[in-house]
Amino acid sequence: MKLERPRGTRDFLPEEMKKRREMEKILRRIAESYGYGEIATPTFEHVELFTLKSGESIVEEMYVFKDKSGRELALRPELTAPVMRLYVNSCEVMPKPLRFYYFANCFRYERPQKGRYREFWQFGVELIGSDSHLADAEVIMLAYEMLKALKVEFKLEIGHVGIMRDVLKGIENSDRIMRLIDKNQIDELEKFMNDCKVDEKVKDRVFRLIELKGDASILEKVNFAEKEIERLKRIAEILDAAKVEYEFDLGIVRGLDYYTGVVFECYAPNLGAQKQICGGGSYELASLFGGQKTPATGFAIGFDRVYEVCNVDGEKIRTVFVVAFEDTYLDALKIAKMLRNSGFVAVIDVMERNLKKQLSYANDIKAEFAVLVGKNELEEGKVSVKDLKSGQQIDVPIKELTNFLSSRTV
Ligand code: HAM
Repeated sequence: MKLERPRGTRDFLPEEMKKRREMEKILRRIAESYGYGEIATPTFEHVELFTLKSGESIVEEMYVFKDKSGRELALRPELTAPVMRLYVNSCEVMPKPLRFYYFANCFRYERPQKGRYREFWQFGVELIGSDSHLADAEVIMLAYEMLKALKVEFKLEIGHVGIMRDVLKGIENSDRIMRLIDKNQIDELEKFMNDCKVDEKVKDRVFRLIELKGDASILEKVNFAEKEIERLKRIAEILDAAKVEYEFDLGIVRGLDYYTGVVFECYAPNLGAQKQICGGGSYELASLFGGQKTPATGFAIGFDRVYEVCNVDGEKIRTVFVVAFEDTYLDALKIAKMLRNSGFVAVIDVMERNLKKQLSYANDIKAEFAVLVGKNELEEGKVSVKDLKSGQQIDVPIKELTNFLSSRTV
């Protein structure tokens, strides 16, 4: 019986992993350059951590199971709630603000399709302890810089959930309304609001807000929620000065229920249906988890979606194949070690193959050179170096081998 991997999961081969690691390196470097430090939390948590506030959709989409003692646990569908649990457990007394970042796998029981997986990776940050618009602006700039560094083509859209919440204040089922707005299910939204007999004036405002998209001038068209609009204006000033390109979209309400203030999303137009590559905003979860009320803001980049549209290559490492024979194997091992110590990738035969097959394999793995360790050359303190592109072959003293290869490789 051939075993398959679970639906919605993936395997990664070396080529992919190389690019993923390179992306990761870039993201880590930028996060750290802003003073964010890496944290890690468990892969599974008590289910309540997520059911308390993460929103209806996430709860339906969770992997939930009981352990042998009957505890109800869930594989993490995201990391904001775990990070805030960690904050309440261990970091409340630390000097604010706290800057954390993470790179971790998440699990959601969604219907798999291109760009939507049941196991996927997020690279995210949380900035904890500041209620200022400056904190919102910092995380937006950070997300922007990260996606730019990955050479991704994308659009950044910024909104404020407080504005829609203001419109829906006191309205029953406002959570469901927000969710329909988030999913952009406009027909259903209209039907639902009709069914719930939502006041015409409120309905009108909801639809006007959804359509408000564009530069800072659209903010002038809103004559309520003054505090929220003022905040967006102040953020706009900072982003403009930092040459961040963005649009306001007052219809952005985000799927997770914990957002309270400024929210933002990034889209890669080339990705089709699952084009949201980053989402975030400000929220308050600490008090829900038993801590002091603490403002926080952050975002998570959908690493797997960005992978599809990002243009970074894995680091190019020079590869040399060491052709060894039975009577020279121990010397060949020493030569391989010397090459590795000098920064080359040195691959040596482990199949006891003949010369022709070893050279053919060297080509298969895209080695640039083959170093032939033959008995006769060894006796003269030399090896034979074959350039696998040109086919040229010359003898080189072992002492000069690394210099010789360094001067020839790109
Ligand atoms: P989210 O929008 O649910 O936000 O997820 C963030 C990103 O993860 C999405 O924009 C998307 O790119 C990616 N993503 C989500 N689900 C999948 C999936 N099934 N397959 C592949 N990629 C996926 C959060 O999770 C918040 N915790 C972000 C945040 C951090 N807000 C504040 N701090």
